Amino acid sequence: MGILEGRAVVVTGAGRGLGRAYARAAAREGARVVVNDVDADAAGEAGEQIRKACGSADACAVHVGSVADWASAQQMIELCTSGFGRIDGLVSNAGTHYLTEPQHDDAAQIRETIESNVMGTMFCGIHAMRAMIGQGQGGVIVNSTSAALCGMSMVASYGAAKGAIASLTYSWAIDLMKHGIRVNAISATALTRMVGHTLEHRDSPVSWPPETMAPLVLYLLSDRSGGLTGQLIRLWGGRLQLIGHPSVSPTLAERESWSVEQLERAFDHDLRGQLQPFGRDMAAYPTGDVD
Ligand SMILES: NC(=O)c1ccc[n+]([C@@H]2O[C@H](COP(=O)([O-])OP(=O)(O)OC[C@H]3O[C@@H](n4cnc5c(N)ncnc54)[C@H](O)[C@@H]3O)[C@@H](O)[C@H]2O)c1
Repeated sequence: MGILEGRAVVVTGAGRGLGRAYARAAAREGARVVVNDVDADAAGEAGEQIRKACGSADACAVHVGSVADWASAQQMIELCTSGFGRIDGLVSNAGTHYLTEPQHDDAAQIRETIESNVMGTMFCGIHAMRAMIGQGQGGVIVNSTSAALCGMSMVASYGAAKGAIASLTYSWAIDLMKHGIRVNAISATALTRMVGHTLEHRDSPVSWPPETMAPLVLYLLSDRSGGLTGQLIRLWGGRLQLIGHPSVSPTLAERESWSVEQLERAFDHDLRGQLQPFGRDMAAYPTGDVD
């Protein structure tokens, strides 16, 4: 018996890459799966593969539409609840990515990135949690983030979108705890179409196939991760890592009010040594040196 036997799960952006690997793995573990993608051919092909592998036409349903469209996201969740009678898990995997120096960025690319990643995660998550709360049996949401949220060259808009997804994950984890809904996010690394476009700009190779990331999603969707919520979990090949929670430091200095001069004095004399490192490879960006 699979670890997701009897469960109903929606995977967005499941037409190819990581999403397809997650959907196939979930179906193999007994879940009935809604395969979503904005690309109809890719979604249909992934759905066909799953039906064939499971030997059952009922193993999956295909939804074609953008996660960044409120009504389409609602239809996708309703396809799961009406077709499979319930929804136990949502993997918000769909998202787009591009590389550019920030000064050359443009409105259309920024909008697509924020809409597919942030609005898509919000819209699908909100419709899914409404259905899960209505069922009264809890559920699991797995969002898709990236170490790019820490700060990385050439991916400012994408990193900002993934940072928003991290914040969403923390807040939802807090608010949904009382409903028994766990919310985590994963930072996967795999050689997919998305990564294929960027290989020449990478300082380290990525050769892991998407299937190597699927066990992390299965674990989070299943009861085996019971109690685990509000976490950003990263797999870098075989390395299992956590992405740290941003936090507010203890009070560094306190006075009734601050003038510009007093702020300057405080930073120049006392606080330079306490500035936060930034960027994914934090040691590469010493603080306080950006004149
Ligand atoms: N591949 C990696 O190493 C890596 C690293 C960190 C994060 N991620 C994240 O993992 C997720 C999957 O990435 P991938 O590498 O498989 O990418 P991919 O480009 O290979 O596949 C993404 C899929 O999402 C679909 N999609 C895009 N916008 C959509 C929308 N608005 N609505 C519905 N479907 C949409 C695409 O059609 C495509 O089939 C993304 O959120 C990505 O940011 C990937």
